[in-house]
Amino acid sequence: MGLKRPNHTVDGMSIPIDRMPRGGPDASWPNRLFETGRLEFTDRYDVSDTVKQKVIGTLERGGERFGTHRHNAVRVLKQVADIANPKILEIGAGHGRLSAEILARHPTIEVTVSDLDPASVDKIAAGPLGANPRATVRVIDATTIDAPDNAYDLVVFAAALHHLPPKAASQVIADATRAGRKFLVIDLERSSTLGLFCTPMMMGFIAAVSLTVTPPSALPPFLHDAFISRLRSYSRSAFRALGAAADPAMVVEFLPGRSRYPPMLAVLYTRPQ
Ligand SMILES: C[S@@+](CC[C@H](N)C(=O)[O-])C[C@H]1O[C@@H](n2cnc3c(N)ncnc32)[C@H](O)[C@@H]1O
Repeated sequence: MGLKRPNHTVDGMSIPIDRMPRGGPDASWPNRLFETGRLEFTDRYDVSDTVKQKVIGTLERGGERFGTHRHNAVRVLKQVADIANPKILEIGAGHGRLSAEILARHPTIEVTVSDLDPASVDKIAAGPLGANPRATVRVIDATTIDAPDNAYDLVVFAAALHHLPPKAASQVIADATRAGRKFLVIDLERSSTLGLFCTPMMMGFIAAVSLTVTPPSALPPFLHDAFISRLRSYSRSAFRALGAAADPAMVVEFLPGRSRYPPMLAVLYTRPQ
């Protein structure tokens, strides 16, 4: 465990990482207005599992319908293409569909599927992934990954980094690049200030698309979390600053392409040797 720990200061900037705006150290003041400290239902302990699973179920079905899980699995497999029997850790797996796609597309890959929420982990364990001999299903907190250094070839975190405030997000980057040298973050990219201003109008579009995959009863909690997600999403300069706070020498690459529903950016963090 002798690797570098986060220094919590944005490299070259005087803003401490715990006060960095979601728009990054260089965010304009209007952009900073469109932030919230409010938690999504899936992050709250006072919200029932039934409500949380409505959100997770909508993400699962939306990702199936629009090919997001498949697209993300291809992104993951490209990163381990030169390794014979790769070992992957998925954190924040929610429903586990990304890990299921990864396993289906590679004959020998082994995947540890995890989430912080025990209800999600129990549900995954009770389904096909729980019975797959190449899958291990566990509760893991992404900020303190319970695994030895270099235990995995790649750690992946999809649609989830924005759930964490900047200091915790930089801790995740530090710990994920300790447990596996490469860390693939797939997440929403923060909109422009104008785009953020239009968030209430965007919600109508998101509602219409979501209703094609989810029952009306799941729509209110899903829209609640989708609204907060937009305001908590990180910009590219924020993704860079989070990496620098984890380790000033962290290599941060934005991979080409984007998944649909929701459109997500892929950021690869590689720990320096
Ligand atoms: C929006 S869901 C994404 C689910 C799935 N990865 C997907 O792409 O649809 C975010 C997930 O991150 C999980 N999460 C939030 N904070 C976490 C943490 N500190 N450690 C592990 N998982 C976390 C939540 O429980 C939730 O399942």
